[in-house]
Amino acid sequence: MKISFKLNGKRVIVDTDPMKRLLDVLREDFNLTGTKEGCGKGECGACSVIVDGKIVNSCLFPVCQAEGCEITTIEGLSDGEKLHPIQKAFIEAGAVQCGFCTPGMVLATKVLLDKKKNPTDEEIKEALSGNLCRCTGYVKIIEAVKKVRRKK
Ligand code: FES
Ligand code: FES
Repeated sequence: MKISFKLNGKRVIVDTDPMKRLLDVLREDFNLTGTKEGCGKGECGACSVIVDGKIVNSCLFPVCQAEGCEITTIEGLSDGEKLHPIQKAFIEAGAVQCGFCTPGMVLATKVLLDKKKNPTDEEIKEALSGNLCRCTGYVKIIEAVKKVRRKK
């Protein structure tokens, strides 16, 4: 089945099994390997991407549901070599260790800050609650989000 959507700002068409997971389509058909697979069950947020302004677990999202949607992956955030301010803040705050959770964390932060320029600490925790990190203990991740908040 041919499925058409906007991916990181460009209109794309993929001819594939409509039930193939968006996660696999991104990684295998588009070589966008920044989107990671952790649990594969909708629990860790490693596979998070933005679909029509909302954070979505791409491991649970059949690609047929992407028809006509606008999808942003971590690769769509930077401007060529120039990192997005959220990515810079994660580096500056030391919020990246193994980095496996980081693309999902960064995208969840983007969705939050697009909706709310100045979220409270509670709102930051709530927005990132679907994204698990096994390395950092979250303190530095929350500090990174606050850094971006301060710059706005
Ligand atoms: S891999 Fe999708 S939520 Fe864990
Ligand atoms: S940095 Fe390793 S899982 Fe978050």
